[in-house]
Amino acid sequence: MGEGNIQGIRKDYGVEELSKTSVLDSPIDQFELWFKDAMKSEGSEVNACVLSTLAEDNCPEGRVVLLKFFAEDGFTFYTNYESKKAQQLAKHPFASMTFYWRTRERQIRLKGRVEKVSAEVSDAYYFERPEGSQLGAWASPQSQEIPDRAFLKKRVENVKQRFETEELKRPDFWGGYILIPTEVEFWQGRPSRLHDRIVYSLVDGQWVTKRLAP
Ligand SMILES: Cc1cc2nc3c(=O)[nH]c(=O)nc-3n(C[C@H](O)[C@H](O)[C@H](O)COP(=O)(O)O)c2cc1C
Repeated sequence: MGEGNIQGIRKDYGVEELSKTSVLDSPIDQFELWFKDAMKSEGSEVNACVLSTLAEDNCPEGRVVLLKFFAEDGFTFYTNYESKKAQQLAKHPFASMTFYWRTRERQIRLKGRVEKVSAEVSDAYYFERPEGSQLGAWASPQSQEIPDRAFLKKRVENVKQRFETEELKRPDFWGGYILIPTEVEFWQGRPSRLHDRIVYSLVDGQWVTKRLAP
């Protein structure tokens, strides 16, 4: 027990290819193209990505979050503003997002500065969510140690009771962040480990592309 030889697991890629001339001028448009492809084949949670932030001990920390909006100005996800990731972002407001779409043999990595979205934007999304999720945001002290599950259930009951008489609002400690990308890398699996990698970097406000060795 406690060990596993998994050296033999390997796969040769070769579904599609990518070149500097085939990618679109904007990495956001290219992201949209790949996102739409992934939606067709990936099944649920195609919007899941690993968000990596920098911890106080200088060790990067990743966790999965759901991308909820993307546009030229950035990539938005929602979370608890008192969570561990939020504390890390308050100290060091830079992060990366990594998407992996197995069916397409594709990875996208973005990095950049992270800011809170406006209260109006967070409100709009908060009230779009199912009621259970709205109450859950109030009930969960995300990333804090709790004694047991019963503690959470009790918090949900208390929140439910509170909002039977009070009008429901978004907690101040819950909302969105936007990652404003300065670098976006597209990775396409190819045969014999000779994968395609095209990276966009922002240079004087213009996106410039480079091919990287796999
Ligand atoms: C598929 C999936 C989607 C998730 N989506 C979110 C999300 O959108 N926002 C969020 O705060 N946590 C989300 N989580 C939970 C996070 O991975 C993480 O456990 C939580 O945010 C606490 O992270 P932190 O302690 O580093 O702040 C998701 C987890 C999974 C597996």
